[in-house]
Order: sequence, then structure tokens, then C-alpha cells
Amino acid sequence: MANPTQSRPAQSREVRLAARPIGWPTAENFTLAAVDLPELGDGEVLVRNTVMSVDPYMRGRMNDAASYVPPFQVGEPLDGGAVGEVIASNSDDITVGTQVLHGFGWREYAVVSARRVQPIDTTLAPASAYLGVLGMPGFTAYVGLTHIADMKPGDAVFVSGAAGAVGSLVGQIAKRRGASRVIGSAGSAEKVRHIVEDLGFDGAFNYKDGHLGKQLREAAPEGIDIYFDNVGGDHLEAAIGSLNTNGRVAVCGMISQYNATEATPAPRNLALVITKRLTIRGFIVSDNNALQPAFLDEVGPWVRDGSLITEETIVDGGVEAAPQAFIDLMRGANTGKMLVRF
Ligand SMILES: NC(=O)c1ccc[n+]([C@@H]2O[C@H](COP(=O)([O-])OP(=O)(O)OC[C@H]3O[C@@H](n4cnc5c(N)ncnc54)[C@H](OP(=O)(O)O)[C@@H]3O)[C@@H](O)[C@H]2O)c1
Repeated sequence: MANPTQSRPAQSREVRLAARPIGWPTAENFTLAAVDLPELGDGEVLVRNTVMSVDPYMRGRMNDAASYVPPFQVGEPLDGGAVGEVIASNSDDITVGTQVLHGFGWREYAVVSARRVQPIDTTLAPASAYLGVLGMPGFTAYVGLTHIADMKPGDAVFVSGAAGAVGSLVGQIAKRRGASRVIGSAGSAEKVRHIVEDLGFDGAFNYKDGHLGKQLREAAPEGIDIYFDNVGGDHLEAAIGSLNTNGRVAVCGMISQYNATEATPAPRNLALVITKRLTIRGFIVSDNNALQPAFLDEVGPWVRDGSLITEETIVDGGVEAAPQAFIDLMRGANTGKMLVRF
């Protein structure tokens, strides 16, 4: 026993799925419960969560549908990315005081095997960055742009959800990799301003302002070579219309459809895939973990020198505030990464 268990709370509060959402999630889909914390078993640590992530993919896990991750179960706690401090340890590998990244968010404290926590270096970046730019969203941006869409210098890149966690990084990485033009779309005038003035995109438009195809053609008069899709639906149709010959689409997400209760229309211009020789390729970030070292080599220095703009929208209030933060994320309340602080 490396670090004997220290004085610690007897209970932890956690968010459970009360009922599966039909359409948009509401507060009634979640419930807060207190549970007794078990004694630590061999090789286990107790983590006090300090920040947790809410992510769009969690909406899919609230449905009773087989996918690449199992669905959440009604009456059971939710889970997801979180960072916290080890406050008791029964492991030789992780000492008390270590800051760790792990998969047991949506609760105040987590008893977890030391093998399932990853120590983080908070001298390189704040703990929250490991849920954003240095974590899953940053890695998703990197994988989708560089490997799925196979971006080359000179490509014109369009990304939807461009003020969000993934999209904001896609555009900035594309600029650094020599894109000829980077265009983003988002859902408010303030986000459009942020994308151009703060993040350095060449152009941006508000998708709520009118005809998407027309706005994209105006923003990229010479067409686009890559579309990084976070939204699906009308956005994908507009992008197909603007893609140049041999263009590529990395299909990362389709958030416009996550709360749909009926089948959503497919792009009506799919025949252009043939004439323009387009490649449309979906991906799941976790299938690409072999690229982690390359990602950290490239993006880590930009985080260290502060040149990458990494906005966070932080909701205070801890586990109690998490359901509403998730609901608000789905409606676009965030700029950059949406996080809940304990
Ligand atoms: N394939 C993978 O492995 C993988 C991994 C991570 C994330 N993803 C996907 O990547 C996308 C972005 O994720 P994220 O974590 O970076 O989230 P995010 O962009 O930080 O947050 C979600 C954003 O989606 C936008 N949105 C909501 N409804 C919309 C609609 N109907 N049309 C257009 N935009 C809408 C909102 O911004 P506005 O104000 O601009 O509407 C909201 O801020 C999601 O689709 C997610 O599922 C996929």
C-alpha cells in the first residue's frame, strides 16, 4: 500500500439518467443521487473531480441504441471525461495529490483503478485543457483534418461548428498547416466575430442568417477542398455544392440531427460526389489512438507558447449544474469547450 487512505468524505453525489430524452433533453431526464463511497480495493484511487466535460456525443448515449460506446442506462450514473485530484490511494503507481484525467465525470468523487487514470502535467497547461485542446476534442480536430480529410498546404477548408471545441481548433490547425483559406460557420453574430477576429479564420458566417449554400459561396468564391463536418444536414449539402474536384469531407459529427425525432433529409445533391470525385469519410477519434504522439508533438508546443486560442465556457456549480450545462451545450450556449467546474 503506497499511500494509506486518508480522511475522506463518506458520500458522493452523482447524476443519473432518469429517463431517455425524446427529442431535446430536459432537466427531467436527469436526477441527482448520493451514494456511499466504498473502501478502496487493491490498486484503486479516490479522485475528487474538479472539472468535467459535457460533450455532444453524450446525447447519442442517452438513446437505447447500439453504437461505438454502450448507451447510458436509466437509473444509472452517467460517465464521461473529467479531471481531478487523487485524495486517497491504494496503488503503488499513483500518489495522493496527483492530478489525473479519467472517464468518471458526472460525480463528485470517483473510486477508480489506478490503471484507468492518466496523470496530467499541469505545468504545461491547466487541468481543464486535458478535456479540450490537449484532450479528446483537440485530438478529434487533428485526426479529422490531417488524416481523415488528408489536408495539404494550399487546401481551402470549411468547418461547421467553428466556434466550438473541435471546430475552433480545426480552423487554427488548418491555418498553421498552410491552408489557402479557412472558413467557419456558427450560430450567432458574436461567434462569427470571434472566429474571424480572435481565431484568425479568413471568413465566417452565421448559418441562421439565411441560405447556407449562398453564404458559403460568398465566403469561398473559389470553392473549398475540404469540409470538416460537425453538423450534417443542410451544412453537408452546402459543402458538397462548394467542394472542388477531388474534395474531401471528414464527417466528424452531425449535431443538427442528434435531437431529431424523425428521419432527417439527406443532401439532395449527392450525385455531385460522382462528377466532382469527392471522398466522404466518417471517423471515430478513438480508433486513431496511434496518432496521439504525433498530435501532442504538433499541438503541444502551440499550447505551451499560447499561440493557439483555446476558449472555454465554464459553468460553476459542480455536479448539480452539469445537466443544464449539457442541455445548454446542445443549444449553442458555449464558445470553445463547455466544462463544468466543481
Ligand atoms: N467523430 C468523433 O470521434 C467525434 C469526437 C468529438 C466530437 N465529435 C462531434 O464533433 C462535433 C463538435 O463537438 P464539440 O465537442 O466540439 O462540440 P461544440 O462544437 O463545442 O458544441 C456543440 C455546438 O454545436 C452547435 N450546434 C448545435 N445545434 C446545431 C445545429 N442544428 N446546427 C449547427 N450547429 C449546431 C452549437 O453552436 P452554434 O451556436 O454554432 O450553433 C454548439 O455550441 C459534434 O457533432 C460531436 O458529436 C465527434
